[in-house]
This record gives sequence, structure tokens and C-alpha cells, in this order.
Amino acid sequence: MEKVTKRVIFIGMSLLLLAAIIILGIQHFDTNYQEKIVQGSNEDQKEHTSSKYPGVGIVTSTQDIDGILIHEKYPEFSHDHLDRSMKKLVKNHRKDFSEEVGKIKDLKKSKIKPYYHMYFDITPLGEHIYSIVMHTEKNYATANAEIHSQPFLVDVQNDRILQMKNLFSEEDYTELTTFVLKELKKDPEKGQYIFDEAYKDFLNQHHLAERLVLNSDGAEFLFEPYSVGARAAGTPSVKLSLEELALYFTDEAVKRLGVLANNDLLQKGKKAVLARQAPELPENMPKVVTNNPKAGKKVALTFDDGPHPENTPAIMQLLKEHQAKATFFMLGSTADFYPELIQQVVEAGHEVGSHSWNHPQLSLLDEASIKNEVDLTDNVFKEAIGYAPNTLRPPYGDYDDRVSQLIDKPLVLWSIDTLDWKSRDPQAILAQVQSQLHDGAIILMHDIHDETVSGTALVLDYLDEQGYECVTVSELFE
Ligand code: NI
Repeated sequence: MEKVTKRVIFIGMSLLLLAAIIILGIQHFDTNYQEKIVQGSNEDQKEHTSSKYPGVGIVTSTQDIDGILIHEKYPEFSHDHLDRSMKKLVKNHRKDFSEEVGKIKDLKKSKIKPYYHMYFDITPLGEHIYSIVMHTEKNYATANAEIHSQPFLVDVQNDRILQMKNLFSEEDYTELTTFVLKELKKDPEKGQYIFDEAYKDFLNQHHLAERLVLNSDGAEFLFEPYSVGARAAGTPSVKLSLEELALYFTDEAVKRLGVLANNDLLQKGKKAVLARQAPELPENMPKVVTNNPKAGKKVALTFDDGPHPENTPAIMQLLKEHQAKATFFMLGSTADFYPELIQQVVEAGHEVGSHSWNHPQLSLLDEASIKNEVDLTDNVFKEAIGYAPNTLRPPYGDYDDRVSQLIDKPLVLWSIDTLDWKSRDPQAILAQVQSQLHDGAIILMHDIHDETVSGTALVLDYLDEQGYECVTVSELFE
């Protein structure tokens, strides 16, 4: 062979080898991602808390896998069968997510990172029967997230998941399907986008009970986008009272409904609303704040992602001992479980802010979803303390002009990140504050972590020594 040909072959082979190494390397990298996603958080990264509902606890976990954010919140029941079913559900969702993430090309280069959120709504329907709707939101590095809701009933005393399907009498089911279609089409705006064919296809694959949500207002058939019509139909729904729904139930289920109708747990849930006024914000508070260096020797401690039934009161106790005030940016979906805790925070003279409903990256959401995140959270506060928070901390500090225009509250960022969620170490939390302390600083912490409580104690001592006063975020701008 000619020398030149040999050289060309050699270079060619080398390039092929290099390409193979790169491809294998990338694949290995992706498998790693997927493994981490499927594995989920370690047990010690999970927070287990109680809730206001007897027999129902909450598990929360947040994971950041190289920018892929996974936030899960699901119920636990201290009952084998229920907990196993729940864990299976959580696991399956993660598996689906990891498989789809594995299919994304150029994930490393992608500006939008995939994310996955799981959360749930719960409504008591009897002494130990709850209606639970699990929601998932999965984003695969595109502008739109896939949203999915799955309703079911649990009986926490008998360790049973009640299949809603079994509530319906077979004879009356066809009649119910006709009724629901008729109601869907009645919607003056969206009714025209409901299609008979799509509805028929849906019924071939699903039972209507899969879309049934029972709550204190009655019953609702809630369909996912595209499932029974065009995009313009949005998430179509049909609402009816429990009495109307009972027409299609078996005798046994009607008996059960009888229990539901006289359910005083539902009444107890409706707390008397305290007649309170929202505190006024200082006039010169900017639309987006990170700190206020003109504030003199004052700082604002802020606690995100709570409230937490043990840590939030523990932090409040420390604040009291130091005559310090702080701001708590609560997640609506968490605060919803602890109305009394919201009241206690406000009564102790602290400030409450919104941290959205479910901790998404707001800049990735459409207008309606952003409004929904804000409004749902506002409502939780209005019910608990009579007013909505007047500031909002965007999750991950993520916002853009559009988000800022849509949200009619100052957006509160921070100038000192204690990285408490990462270090889980009180000394490391203190070190972050020591190295960055400045006049008018806004300090970021998270009251969902146990270590942050001890960290707060150290920080408060240090701030005292340095002659700093702890005020709320809005007081920093007075
Ligand atoms: Ni947060």
C-alpha cells in the first residue's frame, strides 16, 4: 500500500475510535442521569411530616441532578398496603421520567433543563376516607410540561385503596357517560372543541371513574388536555353535586355517600377567617429586590419551602429569644396543610410571602399557569389569615420580564445564599453568612431542614455579636 493511503486509513481509524469513545462516554453520562433519577432521593434526603389529616403524613423530597430538578410530595399512611401502592406509583412516575429524559438529545447543551414535580390534593370524605388526587408535571426540556392527574380514594383505617369504578352501578353507567358528554358540550366557549369520536375513544380505554375527583364542593369529572377534544378545550370538566352523582351509584355506594353527606370533618375544615388587613408595603420598595445596602445595620432572614410542623415553630422560638423578625416564603401546596402554623407565624410578628403553589420555574410556564400558581397560594393564605401575601419569592430565583409583569407583587431574591439545603451543616451555614454579611442583606435559608434550625441559632448569635438587627424583608425598605 502507498504510504499516503496507509496514513489516511490510520487517521480514519483514529477518528472512528475517538467518535466511539465520545459516544460511549455520552451514553454512560446519560445512563448515570437516568440511574440517579430512578433511584430517587436517599432516605435521609426525604422529609417526613405529619399533616392536619389523621392518619396521613407527607413525604417531601427535592433533588437536583446536574440541573434536573425533581420535587416530590406524596402522602404516607403508616399502612403497609397503602404505602406500598404509593411507593410503586412514585417509582413508576420516576421511571417514565427517566426514560423520557434519556431520549433527549444534547441534554447538556439544552438551555431549558427537564424537571419533574409531583404533588397532591387531599379532601376528607369520611372519618378515615380521603379523596386524593396525585398531580405530576414533567418537562422534557421543552416549552410545555406534561401535566397528569390521578384521583383515587383511600381508606386509612382498613388500609385499602377504594377503586372509584366500583362505586358505579353497571346498569346506569352508559347513562352517566351520555350525561357527562352532554355537559361537556354545554360549555359556551370550550364545548365546541369536544369531539364525539375522541370521547368514544376515551371511553374505550378508560372508565369515567378514573377522572372523578370528589371534594367538599361535590364531584368533578376532570379530563386531561387532548383526551376528549382539541387543545382549545383545555382541561374540560363537568361538575355535579354528590346527590346528582349518587344517581349512578350502587346501593352500597349510596350508603357510603350517606356517610359523606353528614360528614362534619368537611365542616371542620372550613376555619373561621380572621378579619385581618394585609400590611402595607413601604412606598419605595422596588419591584425586584435582592438587598438594601442603605438599610444600615439590618438584615432580613428568609425561610423558604415551608412551613414545617416542627422546624418552623422551633425557628420561631429562636427568633423570639433574639427579638428577631423574619420572613417565611411558604409554598401554597404545603401551607394548605397547616393553616394554624400560618396564623402563628403572623401572630408572632413575622412576615409571610408566597413561594408559589408548587415550586416550578415560573419563566417556563404559560400565563394561565403562572396566575394559577399565585392565585391558589393566595387563597390558602386568605383562608388562614384573611389576606394574601404581598411579596413573592420566585422558586430558584427564576423570573423574567414576563413573570415580573404578570405577578402583581414585589419579587424578593436574596444576597446571601446559605446553601443550607446542600450542606445540611449548621457550621457551614454560619460560615456562608460570616463571609458575605453586609448591611441590608437578604439571607436565604429553608425551614424544611432540621440542620437549618441549629444553623439559625448560630447565625442569630453571630448577628447579635456584629450588632445587626433582624427585620422582615419589607421592613428593610422602610
Ligand atoms: Ni424554594
